Amino acid sequence: IAIAEEQMQSKPTISDSSKMESITDILHQLFHTAICAAFPDITDPPVVIAVAASNPKFGDYQCNSAMPIANIYKQSGKKVTPRNLAQKILDNLPSHPMVEKCEIAGPGFINIFLNRDYAVKKLQAIFQNGVQPPTVERKKIIIDFSSPNIAKEMHVGHLRSTIIGETIARLLEFLNFEVHRINHIGDWGTQFGMLIAHLQDRFPDHLEKMPPISDLQSFYKEAKERFDEDEEFKKRAYDSVVKLQSFEPKHIKAWKLICDVSRKEFQKIYDRLDITLKERGESFYQTRTEKIVKELEEAGFLENDDGRKIMWGDESTTVPFTIVKSDGGFTYDSSDMAAIKHSFANRLQEEKADWVIYVVDSGQATHFQILFACAKKAGILDPKKHRVDFVGFGVVLGEDKKKFKTRSGDSIRLVDLLDKGLEKALDKLKEKGRDKVLTPDELKRAQESVAYGCIKYADLSHNRNHEYIFSFDKMLEDKGNTAVYLLYAFTRIRSIARTANFTPEKIKELSKKENISLEHEKEWKLGKVLLRFPDEILKTLNDLYPHHICEYVYEIATTFTEFYDSCYCVEKDSSGDIVKVNYGRILLAEATAMIMEKCFHILGLKPVEKM
Ligand code: ARG
Repeated sequence: IAIAEEQMQSKPTISDSSKMESITDILHQLFHTAICAAFPDITDPPVVIAVAASNPKFGDYQCNSAMPIANIYKQSGKKVTPRNLAQKILDNLPSHPMVEKCEIAGPGFINIFLNRDYAVKKLQAIFQNGVQPPTVERKKIIIDFSSPNIAKEMHVGHLRSTIIGETIARLLEFLNFEVHRINHIGDWGTQFGMLIAHLQDRFPDHLEKMPPISDLQSFYKEAKERFDEDEEFKKRAYDSVVKLQSFEPKHIKAWKLICDVSRKEFQKIYDRLDITLKERGESFYQTRTEKIVKELEEAGFLENDDGRKIMWGDESTTVPFTIVKSDGGFTYDSSDMAAIKHSFANRLQEEKADWVIYVVDSGQATHFQILFACAKKAGILDPKKHRVDFVGFGVVLGEDKKKFKTRSGDSIRLVDLLDKGLEKALDKLKEKGRDKVLTPDELKRAQESVAYGCIKYADLSHNRNHEYIFSFDKMLEDKGNTAVYLLYAFTRIRSIARTANFTPEKIKELSKKENISLEHEKEWKLGKVLLRFPDEILKTLNDLYPHHICEYVYEIATTFTEFYDSCYCVEKDSSGDIVKVNYGRILLAEATAMIMEKCFHILGLKPVEKM
């Protein structure tokens, strides 16, 4: 009985027809079973599955394991030919409704042909259940992103973190993880000393009346100038930090006022870009930092270094963390130790996480490498139970390929950037004459969709490790892999069903009687791209590179165009009256739109009905 059970478990799970599943996962399981049975003498044999190149003659997927297995035999002195090994694999391959047939080609490739009825059934399920995520084990995840600093302007680096973080959070939420979006803002540092001292001088009545600070950045500049020039002011600034950090009520009130000014500014950006975050700044960790420093000290992890207290990570790191400064103050390092402990190891915390993701510019890669090493050493992070990811990203460059700055050399204010985007998007729509066809309200919605969509998409579509050039002209192009191209493509696809008078409800009804059509070569090509949806989602979950989804949705759009160029969906006569509707193709177009829409949601793009 035990043996029978074991065999049952190694079989691929019976497919749940209500949702799309990962094709590569199923093929992997099937071929793993076959290869293990065919070559029991090889431990851990290579199972190599790939999407086939575009020529349909070579099948839809491939298993390329025969060659590496032949090499393994060759090394142990056995002479075998890969073609024979491929045959042995096929002899042991369990049958599965997804696989139509397999063929051996060339030196020993196995070409896999998918069953079209299976494909129809899977795509058809979308109409009843919507686009469902693949099943994954549920986890609690904290994602730390955006995280600007109070009193300093939120800059383009923070914009990248905000955009990438939001997309990863949406992806994880789509997969039904429990996601906590944390804004680790810099709200607790020595800069508050001078800000508070300056506030006391400029607005002596600030405790009674909200100070009218409109531009916190110039306020910061003024304070900084006084700090650098005026010894007496400097002393008061230091006093203020000490008082603040010991939670003296008047100082706390002043600090809160300053934070509120920044917070309002940040929120404007978040609202415009549709970003959700829960604030948990550095100040939250002040008392927790005191606690963890004590614990680290008692456990003997801290070393004295010229009055500083430092902690070393492991062999992979070459710099230590500064846990306590020589003046007794805490640092960015120590508050992050408190934060990671709070995330993973705080038993009282309802958010106690299995996985923590930090979306921060690549310049901080070392900081996080040391953080992870120290957290492991201190027993906070257990690699067997926990996962941590540092999701880094490159800098944003201007069109001159230098660091993105205004002409006068100041860093660019995000509000100005978004305003500029709106302006450019409107120009673009007018250039296309859209202002003449759309109502003012429709035009406004199209403008916002294009402006914010193009800014997000330009960022997300680049490999996040690379720097990228910020250019409105490039991102507003309507050809190539841009938000504008995709948003237009999507609106066009949706309008196909609308022309034939199909509402979403009618399509749902239709799908109960009619099947998606996958007969024509171009229909099948599109259908196969759509079936890859779960695989693309899982790939992105695995490495947290959102550009995979951008490339995928672009491939959907271009493959759809190929299909639409050679397959009529709605036939009209010369007077424009509908003479024939191909229902199977209307369904295929709608399935395409639904999958694109899901990708758009993850990427934060908001398509509009008309544009
Ligand atoms: N406030 C920091 C900065 O602007 C980013 C914080 C990232 N999160 C963290 N836990 N350290 O560079």
